[in-house]
Amino acid sequence: MIKISASLLAADFARLGEEVRLVEKAGCDMVHIDVMDGHFVPNITMGPMIVKAIRPHTGTFFDVHLMISEPERYAGAYIKAGADGITLHAESCGDHLREVVEEIKAQNVRVGCAISPDTPWTVLDPVLPLLDMVLVMTVYPGFGGQNFIEPTLQKVWALRRLYPELDIQVDGGLNEETVGEAVWAGANVIVMGTAFFGSKDPRELVKSIREMERR
Ligand code: DX5
Ligand code: ZN
Repeated sequence: MIKISASLLAADFARLGEEVRLVEKAGCDMVHIDVMDGHFVPNITMGPMIVKAIRPHTGTFFDVHLMISEPERYAGAYIKAGADGITLHAESCGDHLREVVEEIKAQNVRVGCAISPDTPWTVLDPVLPLLDMVLVMTVYPGFGGQNFIEPTLQKVWALRRLYPELDIQVDGGLNEETVGEAVWAGANVIVMGTAFFGSKDPRELVKSIREMERR
């Protein structure tokens, strides 16, 4: 079954408690929390304090997407604040990717590794057996509301062929029009920000996507 992770980047930040409750009520599997540091990407968003503040509002899985340099320095603070899964970018770890993944995995959370649109999936070779999830970015990380970059799905096809059981997440520009292609390529975890929070009927949107099957 397809899983949906609603990205808080498109939520009303003045009402984050209510917004995470909406994510749960709409039937989403995860709350996607986009962390940006103004260094790895040109935008700044949520620190661990925010994760801690919204944690009591829902029991839904917190899927923390770290778009930051030196993710190993901060992952622990997000875990302590309530993250259930940590996804770090391969590009932010250089030669230390395996060590960083092992270090975070040792803290008893699910670990994912993200690749930006220009990064080949083969950079994940040293860590694929350790990962709970791969995140194939379908936009350049940094901002919500961007257009879906279709050629990134070639990486989803390649990974799905080799790893039939792996959770493959796609993030960026997913909406009712683009999600079909992503699922067809083999993605099974769909991040939605603008489309989810802009929807008139989020529950119905989630239901229709969760029932999609790979053709
Ligand atoms: C982009 C973020 C995404 C973003 C998705 O850097 O990682 O999670 O919030 O938002 P939409 O669905 O609006 O493209
Ligand atoms: Zn994200």
